[in-house]
Amino acid sequence: MPNSPIWRPFTQMKTTPPALKVLRGDGIWLELEDGRRVMDCISSWWVTIHGHAHPALAEALYRQAQQLEQVIFANFTHEPAEQLAQKLLAHLPDSLTRVFFSDNGSTSVEVALKMAYQYWGNQGDLRTRFLGFEGGYHGDTIGAMSIGGSCDWWRPFQPLMFSMDTVPFPATFEGDLTVEGKEAQALEKIENCLKGDRYAAIFIEPLIQGAGGMRICRSQFLRSLQDLAHHYGVLLIYDEVMTGFGRTGELFACLKSGTAPDILCLSKGLSGGCLPLAVTMATEEIYQSFYSDDASKAFLHGHSFTGNPLACATGITSLTLLEQNPQQFQQLEKLHRQCFDEWLRGHSKIENIRFCGTIAAMEITTPETSGYFNSIGTHLRDRCLDLGLFIRPLGNTLYLMPPYCITREELDQVYQTLCKVLSEVG
Ligand SMILES: Cc1ncc(COP(=O)(O)O)c(C=O)c1O
Repeated sequence: MPNSPIWRPFTQMKTTPPALKVLRGDGIWLELEDGRRVMDCISSWWVTIHGHAHPALAEALYRQAQQLEQVIFANFTHEPAEQLAQKLLAHLPDSLTRVFFSDNGSTSVEVALKMAYQYWGNQGDLRTRFLGFEGGYHGDTIGAMSIGGSCDWWRPFQPLMFSMDTVPFPATFEGDLTVEGKEAQALEKIENCLKGDRYAAIFIEPLIQGAGGMRICRSQFLRSLQDLAHHYGVLLIYDEVMTGFGRTGELFACLKSGTAPDILCLSKGLSGGCLPLAVTMATEEIYQSFYSDDASKAFLHGHSFTGNPLACATGITSLTLLEQNPQQFQQLEKLHRQCFDEWLRGHSKIENIRFCGTIAAMEITTPETSGYFNSIGTHLRDRCLDLGLFIRPLGNTLYLMPPYCITREELDQVYQTLCKVLSEVG
C-alpha cells in the first residue's frame, strides 16, 4: 500500500515493507488483497481465540449495537457489563470479588498498579516499591513499561520510568534438569527483597511470559511465590492478559497452578479478540480499602470507553463459547506435541522446547546472540509468509499460538511448513 499515512506499531517504518492488506478473515485464515490466504498462527497478537469472523461473536455485536453502543460508565451500568462481571467471577477463585473495567492489557496493568499503590495508601501505609521478573512484559504505557523494566525495548524511555526491583524468572523447558535449582535461587532472591523492604506488590505473568520469549515456569513455583507473598504481606498481581481464556490449556493460569492472586489483569481473549476490553479484578479486602465516606479514597481512574457495551456483549458470548467447548483449548497441547514429534523433533537447530496448553515455543540456534534482535526471526517470518503462514518470532524464539479452532490437519500443515523453512536455514 504505497504512501499510506499510517504509522504502524512496533515497526521500523523505513526498513519494513508496506503492510499487507487483509480483506477478510475466516477461522485461522486471513484472505489478502493480492488473493493469498495465510494461516494466522499467532491469533493476531494472541487475541483471536475463536478464529476470525466468528458468527456468534458477530451476531452478539450486531444485536448489542442495535440496543446500546456506549454509555458513560461512572453513572450508569448495563446488562452486558453486569453479566460479564458475574460470568468472570464464576470462573475465578472465590477470593476475587470485584471487577474494574478498562480498555486493553496495558491499562489493566496500570489499573492494577495504581490500585495496589492506593490500597496501601488508603491505610496510611505508603509503599512505592514493586517487584517484577526478568523478561516480564506488561504493556507499553509508562507504568506497565516500568513494571516490565528489564525489557530491552524500553531503553529509549528509561528516564521516564519509575524504578522497581527485578528478580530471575525460573524459565524451564523439556528435559530441564536444573529447574529446581533455578526456582530455589529465584525464591531466595525474592525473599531477600521482601525481607529488606516494604513492597506494594509483586507482578508476574503466571506460567508463561509472553513477549519476553514465551518462557515457561512451573505451577510449583507460583505456589511458593504465593506463600512468600502471603507470609510477607505483599499483594500478588497476576497479569493474565495473555494467559487468560484457555491459552494455558485451562481457562486461567491461576486455576491451572492452583493459586489465587490478590489482583488479576485480563484482556486480549476477554472479548473473544473482537474489541478492545480489559478488566482488573480484586479481592474484597482491596475493594473495602477504597470503600469510604471520604471521596478522596475512591479509585479515581477511568477511561471514556470503560465497560463498553459492545465489547462486553462479545465477552459474554466468547466466554459461553469457551464453556461450551473446552476440549478445543484443552486438546491443543496434545496436538502440538504430536505435530512437533512428527515434523520437528530432533532438528539440530532447535533447543529449549516447551509447550503450555495452546502455545508451543522453541529457540532456534544461530551464530548470533539469542534474543529479540536476532535476525533469524525476520527471516523465518518472511519465508513462512511466502508459504502461507503468518508467524512473528521473538528474535530466535519461534512460537505458535493459533486460534483454538485450528484443526489437526491445519496444524500439521503449519509444522510441515516450519520443517521445510528450518531445513532451508541448515
Ligand atoms: C502479559 C501481557 N500484559 C500486558 C500486555 C499489553 O496488552 P495491550 O497490548 O492490550 O496493551 C500484553 C500484550 O501483549 C501482554 O502479553
